[in-house]
Amino acid sequence: MAYSDKVVDHYENPRNVGTLDKSSSEVGTGLVGAPECGDVMRLQIKVNPETQVIEDAKFKTFGCGSAIASSSLATEWVKGKTVSEALQISNTDIVKELALPPVKIHCSVLAEDAIRAAIGDWKKKNNVAETEAVAVA
Ligand code: FES
Ligand code: FES
Repeated sequence: MAYSDKVVDHYENPRNVGTLDKSSSEVGTGLVGAPECGDVMRLQIKVNPETQVIEDAKFKTFGCGSAIASSSLATEWVKGKTVSEALQISNTDIVKELALPPVKIHCSVLAEDAIRAAIGDWKKKNNVAETEAVAVA
């Protein structure tokens, strides 16, 4: 499998690897797995409660080079966007940017799913009353 230069760059120098405090109401956590290969991706966002701008994003991915590159790129792309702008990011944008071959398309789907899951978690958290306990997977 030949990886594109951009995949190799993100794989060698992944952006925004790490963890945000998932107990914070400003943080949304998405944890998704790829049934195709068993790889797992966690993507977290930190959202400004006033502006709904994503101020920080972190990821951890147990997976192939394309999955790591896709999640690294996803964290770069969501930062500075509002939640609704981030929802516009689609896996086909990632495929294009990284020049992923057909067998690696599901790796980019994982990143899109992870963004959506993180935003979904953040939304869920921020609709519940502050006194309620929030369960995060
Ligand atoms: Fe080997 Fe995803 S199948 S890393
Ligand atoms: Fe399964 Fe890349 S995420 S091979």
